[in-house]
Amino acid sequence: MINRGVLLAKGVFSTIILTLIFVLSLVSCDSNKTSTLEYQWSIPQGFPKPQLPANNQMSDEKVTLGKRLFYDKNLSFNQQQSCESCHQQTFAFAEAKVTSVGTSGESHRRNAPALVNIAYNKTLTWAHDGLTSLEQQILIPMFGESPIELGITSYDAEVLARFKTAEYLPLFRAAFPDQEVSFDLIVKALASFVRSLISLNAPFDRYAYQGDDNAISPSALRGMNLFFSEKLECHHCHGGFNFTQSTSHEKQLIDRRPFHNTGLYNIQIENKSIGYPETDVGLAEISTLARDNGRFRAPTLRNVEVTAPYMHDGSISTLPEVLDFYAAGGRKISEGSYQGDGRENPLKSAFIKGFEMSAQDKNDLINFLKTLTDEEFLSNPAFSQSIE
Ligand code: HEC
Ligand code: HEC
Repeated sequence: MINRGVLLAKGVFSTIILTLIFVLSLVSCDSNKTSTLEYQWSIPQGFPKPQLPANNQMSDEKVTLGKRLFYDKNLSFNQQQSCESCHQQTFAFAEAKVTSVGTSGESHRRNAPALVNIAYNKTLTWAHDGLTSLEQQILIPMFGESPIELGITSYDAEVLARFKTAEYLPLFRAAFPDQEVSFDLIVKALASFVRSLISLNAPFDRYAYQGDDNAISPSALRGMNLFFSEKLECHHCHGGFNFTQSTSHEKQLIDRRPFHNTGLYNIQIENKSIGYPETDVGLAEISTLARDNGRFRAPTLRNVEVTAPYMHDGSISTLPEVLDFYAAGGRKISEGSYQGDGRENPLKSAFIKGFEMSAQDKNDLINFLKTLTDEEFLSNPAFSQSIE
């Protein structure tokens, strides 16, 4: 039987290839004499700097242009959606919907992830081990056709013309001197803005990295110790300063692309184990290996308090429910078409083994996760839509 997920992926990727060819044909020169001043990352001392592609170094001018584009509905064919429609600052650039809906009303099968410290991500999207560049990933919402997000394909000339205006031309000229407005430049500017979305100033950071012992409560401290304990194992997959294993930066160049089956599903049909829903089998869709069924990337937990609902398909609504899920060692679904006991999924990670959790433990863990909320990030005007 043909897997619908594979078809979806093929649709997206053939579009990307076509788009890449199209974009490359537009790139006349790629000089990088964009800015004389070196870009200042808002990264506290001691944290490593993200790695950048050689042909898209950061500059304030690119970030400024990228921010304008991120919030501009002219970037969708029918002018109904911008990037921000699905990635909103108050939700750490995630959204409150279970799964996203594109500009023409088509449903996406996945939950929009938060855009937090994306510059450090080793891989992009929920389950793809080959998608490592933001410049490549951003083409998906722009040009992808299954599902349509911004829907630019077939409308590219019309959409591009909307950015050759008196408002935009000076911004392009400042960011990319002597270059024609093109989708290549639009993507580079958007990538620069997304990379500027750094969140490293939560109460946890003040406690752990800035020596402020009072930055988090005794309850949160107990929760932190549980989080990093061998009993709960959370840190194995959500470890490091970005609370995800899937991190790379100037000091960590080893290629690690970890994806895990957490036991969310184990669909049984006529006593046969199907695993995850056919519409989304995770990494297996890309690798085509049966053993990758249900494997997804462990997302960062920074600002996780505001990014509900959770998981790749938004199928867990609240943080207390996420904790119950881990304590149970997976999810049992008793009725409906996804019926089956995820706890018994044979491909489940050995680190998802379940644990005892008292009401106090649960409360402490929630309080710890809340110390990862960076209020400054959620309201920083540098990331907000500019008011003219
Ligand atoms: C219709 C809603 C929607 C729109 C519009 C949209 N996105 Fe997304 N975005 C998503 C979803 C859903 C995913 C997860 C995709 C997946 O895992 O397959 C995602 C993933 C991403 C990721 C990867 C994040 C990660 O953690 O790996 C980035 C970066 C991103 N989007 C940036 C953008 C930018 C920039 C734009 C505008 C050009 C944009 N998005 C427009 C819904 C949207
Ligand atoms: C084996 C690796 C692994 C371990 C151990 C693990 N997680 Fe996860 N976590 C993941 C993966 C993978 C996902 C995404 C799963 C999916 O969407 O199918 C995830 C998702 C989450 C989410 C939802 C995030 C979001 O943005 O949707 C939260 C919250 C979370 N984990 C917290 C925890 C806590 C707390 C622990 C310890 C009790 C823990 N995790 C242990 C791998 C792990």
